[in-house]
Amino acid sequence: MKKTIFQLSVVFLGLYAILYLFVRLGPQEAETNGKERDIEIPRAPGESKTVKNPIPNTAEMIAKGNKIYHEHGGCFACHGNLGEGDGPAGTTLNPRPRNFSNTRFQEIRTDGELFWVIRNGSAGTGMFSYSPAYITEEESWMVIRYLRAIPMEVQKAKTIK
Ligand code: HEC
Repeated sequence: MKKTIFQLSVVFLGLYAILYLFVRLGPQEAETNGKERDIEIPRAPGESKTVKNPIPNTAEMIAKGNKIYHEHGGCFACHGNLGEGDGPAGTTLNPRPRNFSNTRFQEIRTDGELFWVIRNGSAGTGMFSYSPAYITEEESWMVIRYLRAIPMEVQKAKTIK
């Protein structure tokens, strides 16, 4: 008898855990369904919005950011060679990595918000904290200069083809 009660409570606890997980993760997972999360929903807290990029927006800094993105930063692996969110390690992620060639995304995010995500990651996604573990704070700001140049770079790459 005691054993049955024990078994029953294990079953109930299990069911409860599944239900809890479904309620917590279910709708979100279903929402993204192998796609990007809604770009209109910010990923960083409001106070990060006004933080300014201390790195000048010059061709030299964009080139440095490009190097970090494609070399030791490893961003290209998920975000793609051109930044369209289609890197080899990104296509199976759910939610999918950001597509930096999306001009609407570029418009609604501030540098401070991008910096916050590079530093803190985006909970519940493959976007981990990359700074300071992999790139320095200064390198994050340089990489952001490059991320901002991506829509133009993509356009150039596509017209040359
Ligand atoms: C393992 C895969 C992976 C790697 C590597 C990766 N990212 Fe991401 N990144 C993601 C995913 C997935 C998202 C989408 C997160 C979300 O939807 O909240 C994302 C989102 C972002 C965002 C946008 C957050 C927003 O405001 O919506 C920025 C900025 C970013 N990544 C920068 C970088 C940089 C810079 C690097 C390299 C240092 C990098 N990522 C490396 C997977 C990755």
